[in-house]
Formats: sequence, structure tokens, C-alpha cells
Amino acid sequence: MPIIDNVEFDQFLQTFDSAFNDQQLQRLVLSKYKGEETELKRITVRPLLLKGQQLLSFLYEYKTNHITKNLSLSESLEFFKAQVGNHFFNAHLLTDQWEAQLSVSKKAKVLMKKYPNKNKTLQTTETTSHDRAKNRFVEQDRPYLRELGVTDNKGSIIPAMSRKWKQINRFIEVLSRAIDNTGLAKHDKVHIADFGSGKAYLTFAVHDYFVDKLQVKTEVTGVELRQNLVDLCNSTAQKLALEGIKFEQGDVQHFKAQGINIMIALHACDIATDYAIHMGIRTGAEIIMCSPCCHKQIRPQMKSPTTLAPLLQHGIHMGQEAEMVTDGLRALLLEAHGYDTQVFEFISLEHTSKNKMILAQKRKQSRDNSAIIAQIKSIKEFYGIKEHCLEELLAN
Ligand SMILES: C[S@@+](CC[C@H](N)C(=O)[O-])C[C@H]1O[C@@H](n2cnc3c(N)ncnc32)[C@H](O)[C@@H]1O
Repeated sequence: MPIIDNVEFDQFLQTFDSAFNDQQLQRLVLSKYKGEETELKRITVRPLLLKGQQLLSFLYEYKTNHITKNLSLSESLEFFKAQVGNHFFNAHLLTDQWEAQLSVSKKAKVLMKKYPNKNKTLQTTETTSHDRAKNRFVEQDRPYLRELGVTDNKGSIIPAMSRKWKQINRFIEVLSRAIDNTGLAKHDKVHIADFGSGKAYLTFAVHDYFVDKLQVKTEVTGVELRQNLVDLCNSTAQKLALEGIKFEQGDVQHFKAQGINIMIALHACDIATDYAIHMGIRTGAEIIMCSPCCHKQIRPQMKSPTTLAPLLQHGIHMGQEAEMVTDGLRALLLEAHGYDTQVFEFISLEHTSKNKMILAQKRKQSRDNSAIIAQIKSIKEFYGIKEHCLEELLAN
């Protein structure tokens, strides 16, 4: 029976309402379902900004699949009034400030406990107005995070995974800006390839961002050398009943792809990054995003120009110089092939030592690239470089 004129329930709804309006709502979970839908386990409700409109996303979690519905605040409040005490007998609310637990007994007795959010310290460090916006890119209660072991059953970050959690957030933050710039959110369907997908934290994150947050039909393919990881990721996708995400065993150097909109290669080893960038350019990807790893090709070819020789006599300096030259040339080659390119720190060294990101966004207008081609030539001459993998791939 729905709850009518109950002070505690009204107070619960009021806390939800204020948290939503003050942008402090994290989530509300409806559980202890007793209704006709035998497979329904719970509904998780969280704020959603869709095409400039503040809404609430309702994630219905069934045993074998998930369904999302979006409602306005008033529709949501009506839904809670109709459902709590009728079909759902437990509601848990989490805001930046408060945690509230509402339970309804068999005899329709309502009990609410409200207490300050226990994780407030963790959240407040991440919820200054700037960071708050940043944190909204990925919601902690997404099912894939639980399945990949980033969060526990209550949706809290497992302490050992906090660095991975920060990396996922930063990755989606960077990507979301590029999506805005290139207009990909307006496409009917988007194709994404992730080369060297590994355990696929970022592959699942990008799929979830497009499907759940942007509500764009998406086909994501993770390509990975190691068969055991491919099997693991495919079974995770199956368990979560996700559509539009698959993993294939393969070497990026021999992989054939067509019609990719976003090419991702994060920490793919050595020249695998060059092959991935090349594939992105050849298929006309709007966004190419890579974080290079181990730079082996250029260093043995590099000669120390006379003036720099005293600096580069130290192995560590030579290694840093080789890395800069390798990635600098990659960025220039992307520029020369129609991409506006940035090279920046992806996430501070505190989180991972592989912290450089090359982000390339396809230019809408073509332009004369002869000056850049001349720059590439003179840099190679300066350091005595004969071969750069990406340059050769593009020349062929
Ligand atoms: C350091 S992990 C990064 C995983 C993931 N991209 C991330 O950033 O979390 C690099 C992955 O790339 C895979 N890899 C390396 N070279 C590859 C190649 N040529 N083709 C496909 N996968 C490759 C490795 O097996 C490994 O799982």
C-alpha cells in the first residue's frame, strides 16, 4: 500500500528534492521489491544532464539485463510516492551531505534513519565546484564498475582501486570535451576501437558514457593480444547483458578496421601506438586518443647534436629526449594529416607513471600542411633519425 501522510517519508522525499536541486544528489536505490516482475532486483536513480536538461536516470536492474528510463524531478517524486511501500520496501538515499535509510515493515510502519554521509571526507575533497563537475562524468554506482572490482556492492570505491577510479574519470572528462568539439554526440551511431584494451576498464567506461549518459547507439571493439583477457572481458560484457561491446584477440599491427569514429590506444606498447594512430587516420576517425608507452624505435637512431651532447650524455636525459621526439613527431604527423593535436599530462604522476596523452581531433576544414612537413624533415635531420614507424605507415 502506498505511504500517505507520513512525516518520515515526506522528510525523505524532501531530502531527495533538495539534494537534486542543490546538485548534491548522488543516488537513491529502491530495493526489497515485491511485485510481479520476478527478475527485478532494484532501481538505482541518479541525476543526469541530458541535452542541457537536469533529469533523473532510473536504472532497472534485472537478473539478466538492465533498462534505463529518464524522468523529471516531479515525475520521479510521483513514482516514489506510488512505489515505496507498495512494491519497494527499502529506499536508500545518498547525497553529498546525508545518507538516509527508509524501510517499510509488513504492517506498513515507516522507519527512517538519517545521518551525515560517512564518506563525506572522501567526497568533499572531490567535490569543490570544479571537481564536482568533473566527478559527474562517471557515476560510482554504474554496474560495470562493480563487475570490474572498482566499487563494492554498496557502490563505494574499493580503496586499492582509487587510482584506477581517478584515471577512468579523467579519461572520460578529456574524451567528453573532444566529443563536444567534434559533435559526435549528435551521431545516430558511433564506432569506437580500443587497441590494447587490457582489462578494459576504459573500454567499458567509454561504452557506458555513450550508451547511458549520451544515449547514443554505440559499437565498441576492444582489441587485445592476450586471449585470457579477451575471454574475461567478453564474459563481463555478457554478465552485464551489454549490447554493442565486444573484445577480439588480435595484434593491432595486423588488425583491419573501417569506419571508426574514435580510436583509443592507451598504453599500447612501443610502435603498436603508431599502428593504432595510423589506423585512426586511415579510417578517418574524428578523435584519436593515445597514451604512448615504451619508446624503443627512435632512441637507438638518435645522434646527440653537438650543442646538446653534454646534456644527452646522461642516459636518463637521452631517454626523455627520445620520448619527446617520438611523441612530438607523432603529434606533428597527426597535424599534417588534418588533425588539431594536443600533447598533455593525462593524469598526474601520483597516479601512474604513464601519464602522457596525445589527443587529436579531426579538423573540419583542410589547410596547407607544407610547413609542418618541412618541420618534421628538419627535426629528423637534426637528430639523425632515419625511420619513424608512423611516418612510414602513412607514406605507404
Ligand atoms: C598496459 S596495458 C593497458 C590496458 C588499457 N588500455 C589501459 O590503459 O588500462 C597494455 C595492453 O596492450 C596489449 N597490447 C600490447 N601490444 C599490443 C598489440 N600490438 N596489439 C594488441 N594489444 C597489445 C597488452 O597485452 C596489454 O594488455
